[in-house]
Amino acid sequence: GETLLQTAHRHDVDLEGACEGVCACSTCHLIFDEDVFDELEEASEDEEDMLDMAFALTATSRLGCQVK
Ligand code: FES
Repeated sequence: GETLLQTAHRHDVDLEGACEGVCACSTCHLIFDEDVFDELEEASEDEEDMLDMAFALTATSRLGCQVK
């Protein structure tokens, strides 16, 4: 399936994605509502590591290129 980053770009949403979705930049950082966040598949360790470097990280942050 398509990632949220791909969906955003398809709809001209201004979400960066400097590494083009290979989980190496954190510029595709998204913050979810808690109920939505809870429905997502768990983040991989690679995603967690990269998230730690995201600007203004929250408890419901994810990387758009890693969420389907
Ligand atoms: Fe680089 Fe998502 S686009 S981590």
